[in-house]
Order: sequence, then C-alpha cells, then structure tokens
Amino acid sequence: MDIFSQEIENYITSHIEPEPDFLKKLVRDTNLYTLKPRMLSGHLQGRLLKMFCAMTGAKRVVEIGTFTGYSALCMAEALPADGEVHTIDINDELEELILNGFDRAGEVGKKIHFHIGDAAELIPQMEGEFDVCFMDGNKRHYMEYLDAVYPKMRMGGLIIADNTLWDGHVLEEDRNDAQTAGIKKFNDSVCADDRFFVTMVPLRDGMTLIRKIK
Ligand SMILES: C[S@@+](CC[C@H](N)C(=O)[O-])C[C@H]1O[C@@H](n2cnc3c(N)ncnc32)[C@H](O)[C@@H]1O
Repeated sequence: MDIFSQEIENYITSHIEPEPDFLKKLVRDTNLYTLKPRMLSGHLQGRLLKMFCAMTGAKRVVEIGTFTGYSALCMAEALPADGEVHTIDINDELEELILNGFDRAGEVGKKIHFHIGDAAELIPQMEGEFDVCFMDGNKRHYMEYLDAVYPKMRMGGLIIADNTLWDGHVLEEDRNDAQTAGIKKFNDSVCADDRFFVTMVPLRDGMTLIRKIK
C-alpha cells in the first residue's frame, strides 16, 4: 500500500536540510554492500530524527537497530559535544562498515557507542537515563523493547517507534504474520497505556512518538 508517494518525498527532500556528505557516502556503501538497503532511514526521516533530538535538547540517546549507522549519525548530529548515542544491533556482520561510517563523520561519529547484542537484554544493564530512544529493531519484539527501555527513559523522554504502519498491513484484519501481529499489538498497547502521551506521524512507514509522562 502506497501511503506516501515518491513524488511528495522528492519534493520534501529538495526543501529541507541536505544530507551531509558522510551520510551520502554511507547510503552508497549501504546500497553496495548490504542485501536490504531499504532498511536505512533515509534523508527525510533522518532529518526528522535530528530535529526531534534537537527539539528535546537530548544528551543521551539509545537506538535499537543500528543497521549501517545512518539514523545513529543523524541523531548524533543534534547532540552537544559531550552527548552520547548508544546504538545496538544484534548482528555483528556490518561492524566494519558501521565503524568506518562513524569514523568518516569525524566529531559527530565520536559521540556514538556501538554495542552488539540483543537490545532487550543489553538496555536493562546500561547505566543512566536516556532522553530519546529510537526503536527500529525486530518488529516482532517491540513490546519487549518497550518494557526494557521504559525504566531507562527520563520523565518526559521520547520513544520514537519506527514502521508502525507496516506498509499499511495494520489495516488488514486477517493479516497476522508475526511481524504484523507484533506491530498491531504494540500500537494497541501504547495508545491504551496512561504512562504515555502518544501520537503518530504518517511519514514513510509510520513513526509513533511516545512521551513518558508517568
Ligand atoms: C530497520 S534496521 C535499522 C535501520 C537503522 N535504524 C537506520 O535507520 O538506518 C533493523 C536492525 O535491527 C537489528 N535488530 C533486530 N533485532 C534486534 C535486537 N533484538 N536487538 C538489536 N538489534 C536488532 C537488525 O539486525 C537490523 O540491522
């Protein structure tokens, strides 16, 4: 289901902040060396992630699902020099590509700490509170990620959950494969949970914004 046309996206991306060169190069490497380059956030979503981090004055960010590091770099761009993005990926195969991308970004890349492992296990062991969480791992496990990250978010902190419209499959009542079921359960749960103020952005594949208020 086309919920957001390519023409509109092209128009928007020609009227927003351009991608820095280190991101353009990362997009090229991701297309050359990975099997699913579509997983990368891209220009528009990346600038929005940077904007959210800037608007919330974030200093500490945690990301579930690094892939090649595009979104981690976008969020790091908005942080002060002593800010930190802790990005986690369960897959170690892209480590070299990721670390090269962070190196190429100079001071921006130095704010990023890359962790390999299951985010649902690693986050509870992390020290300190986070201002922003970008949730972009396995769609089957969004509820587990939420349980893991909730106690680590500061009051007023923002959780951004990606792909929550899941190509429009959330509208299909009979579609209940594990990923669609995971996203539907997550969407139903967060909007009924009074610990959160929730809204959704119908951008790209849908992003849910979840503010911790209790
Ligand atoms: C959609 S990609 C992330 C894209 C990236 N955030 C970006 O915008 O460029 C999803 C990533 O989540 C990782 N992943 C899946 N399950 C995970 C888990 N339990 N913990 C950490 N990472 C996980 C996958 O290996 C994959 O690289």
